[in-house]
Amino acid sequence: MSIDHFAHKAGSYDGNPSRVDNVANIAGAIRNAITLDRSMHLMDFGSGTGLLLERIAPYVGKITAVDVSSSMNAQLLAKQAGLGCALEIMEIDLETSELSGAFDGIISSMTMHHIRDTDAMFRKFHLLLKDGGFIALSDLDREDGSFHTEDTGVHHFGFDRSEFAKSAAAAGFRMIQTSSASVVHKPRGDFPVFLLTALR
Ligand SMILES: C[S@@+](CC[C@H](N)C(=O)[O-])C[C@H]1O[C@@H](n2cnc3c(N)ncnc32)[C@H](O)[C@@H]1O
Repeated sequence: MSIDHFAHKAGSYDGNPSRVDNVANIAGAIRNAITLDRSMHLMDFGSGTGLLLERIAPYVGKITAVDVSSSMNAQLLAKQAGLGCALEIMEIDLETSELSGAFDGIISSMTMHHIRDTDAMFRKFHLLLKDGGFIALSDLDREDGSFHTEDTGVHHFGFDRSEFAKSAAAAGFRMIQTSSASVVHKPRGDFPVFLLTALR
């Protein structure tokens, strides 16, 4: 049984304006980079309380929310009726579980730094997409470790964009692009956030 690293903060997660602003910026960057349509079935990896998917939902047909945390999933479930598309919640650890599916796209915000083996996760994303499907993954640029003040299962202090893009290419992705999506302002400093998009 895995630890729910977010159990103590799920209830207050959406109450942090800087976090909400960051995910709103990420959703905007995804919408600028990818043409979404109502026929699409997306996966949101590490969907949490749904801050990202609730902003993408009005533009797609269905979102499968994948998250290992039962406390975060409970927050998302409470939003289901007001979402702009169909929702399925899969409570699994995607590093250790298999998922079948042929998604039109995979979106993700602030989750890849919680993943031990990101090369393997890129390969899993590739298998889970239809031909021509997209990834749109947002996370911290390389930081000094001061972004997190508590242990929520962090395996990477952000990412070097070009290394992250190489990892996507090694998994078979093409048309890889990175761009700046947001900046998280904290008392300890400013933490830039990038978006990587690519096609299978
Ligand atoms: C920092 S939160 C981000 C939540 C949301 N995407 C957002 O931006 O507000 C990271 C989320 O990823 C989930 N997560 C971390 N590792 C995971 C894994 N291996 N499989 C599924 N979910 C995972 C956590 O439970 C948590 O809800």
